[in-house]
Amino acid sequence: MRCPLCHVLIALTLLCNVLLLYYSWHLQFRALGRQAPLPALAPGITVIVREFRAFEHGLAELNRSFLRSRPSLRLLIASDVLPYPPVPGLSVLKLHPSPEQPSSASRPESHIHSRLVALVPDGTALNPPDLLDRMAQKLRDAPPSIRIMAAAAGPDLRCLHLNVSTRQWTAEYRPAVASEPCGAVSGTAVLMLRSRDLFELPFPLARPLQAALFIQAALRGWGVQIAEGVSFPRTPLPATDHGRWKSEQAERQEEAATMRALGVRLVRGLDGGERWFGCSKETQRCFGTVVGETPEYLYEGRWTPPCCLRALRATAHHVIKVLERNGVRYWLEGGSLLGAARHGDIIPWDYDVDLGIYLEDIVLCAELRGAQGGSLVDAEGFVWERAVEGDFFRVQYSQSNHLHVDLWPFYPRDGVMTRDSWTGHPQDVEFPESFLQPLQTIAFAGGTAQAPNRHLELLRMKFGEKSIEEPEYPNSALLSMRGR
Ligand SMILES: *[C@@H]1O[C@H](CO)[C@@H](O)[C@H](O)[C@H]1NC(C)=O
Ligand SMILES: *[C@@H]1O[C@H](CO)[C@@H](O)[C@H](O)[C@H]1NC(C)=O
Repeated sequence: MRCPLCHVLIALTLLCNVLLLYYSWHLQFRALGRQAPLPALAPGITVIVREFRAFEHGLAELNRSFLRSRPSLRLLIASDVLPYPPVPGLSVLKLHPSPEQPSSASRPESHIHSRLVALVPDGTALNPPDLLDRMAQKLRDAPPSIRIMAAAAGPDLRCLHLNVSTRQWTAEYRPAVASEPCGAVSGTAVLMLRSRDLFELPFPLARPLQAALFIQAALRGWGVQIAEGVSFPRTPLPATDHGRWKSEQAERQEEAATMRALGVRLVRGLDGGERWFGCSKETQRCFGTVVGETPEYLYEGRWTPPCCLRALRATAHHVIKVLERNGVRYWLEGGSLLGAARHGDIIPWDYDVDLGIYLEDIVLCAELRGAQGGSLVDAEGFVWERAVEGDFFRVQYSQSNHLHVDLWPFYPRDGVMTRDSWTGHPQDVEFPESFLQPLQTIAFAGGTAQAPNRHLELLRMKFGEKSIEEPEYPNSALLSMRGR
């Protein structure tokens, strides 16, 4: 030990370095923490009023009722358009960004500083004044899976089960059975949730608020609980006939836009019926040109939108009816025969329907004769045409919506069904005519259709031994059902 002091100095230097490192790391960590969208939330509740109509509302009364009884509450009125005429003394957060404003100005989360938020519909009063506190207590006491507390703000608040299927573009409601947690409620409600939860959602304030929240919550497995014994007095608004009418029109448009944004094309079971938000005869087909037999929705983990399946079934029924009426011999081909064999319907990710026909029978059908020369719109709006892609016919759902049934003409040669040109798909091959002698009737797409006899044998020959039992996407080299 020639220099004990040197060792002590070295040790001290090292210690200083470690301390400095720790300090700079700590500073960075705090800076990162500050970038979180909701910094240092204080206890308390922010009341967000989103469900009101700018043209006929009760915001001044709502403000009075809530703030008189609870002066410490913060009220945030959020809207796409400002109330007109303006209400003096009431500030409204405009949710549409303006080019001259910072982006945070139109984001509701930058105006929320409390841990809890209550979403309160217009016309609601805070009476007695402890209603929100009771909801907050119930939310704190609820199991962690409950993320939304719902209190009645009108008659008939009911607990519903909600199943949202991204793959099938559907949201299905049904009454919840006893002991089952709610996934949604029907009836007007005040909703309370943690601010962090609300603003974790990509569409926190989309309208209609309840439907949009419950669908996003269902996708995260969040439960909803009804706050028993908590009920807010409420006067439904708008109160005039004209105002109600305008409000209903607006709500229909908002609902359609929100369901599209959420990827829901079919809502079942709310008010007993089915509501469709997808394509129709008047709109375009809801997916683009299919490349490599793999439609775009498959890459997004989704199957054929339900509106498209419905349109395909309708087109198939129509074409089958016309062919049968004219005595044209036809049969289910390719993927359509495969779907019929598996479950009597179109394959749930298929994008068209294929039928084979006898070439020599084309002359029997006016629609096909018309299509040969160009294109023909029939009395029910379906479009018959010669396909530009090759030697076959195509029947489209409508002039705007190009969902279609393809008709492939075959002719017999030495006991084998053949065509003059082929698509190049492995399953598009010649086959013995004996499969068509005779044809058989099988269930397809909610009706019946003609099919080859011994169709399972034919399918195994064309698609492979296991093709019926082990479903696979149409082009597994591009995208396989079992992952790429
Ligand atoms: C809202 O309530 C507060 C507190 O009672 C009051 O000062 C304010 O004027 C009210 N605003 C309107 C527009 O009524
Ligand atoms: C949820 O809905 C989808 C689409 O309709 C359906 O296939 C699935 O079976 C449903 N799941 C439950 C648990 O009800």
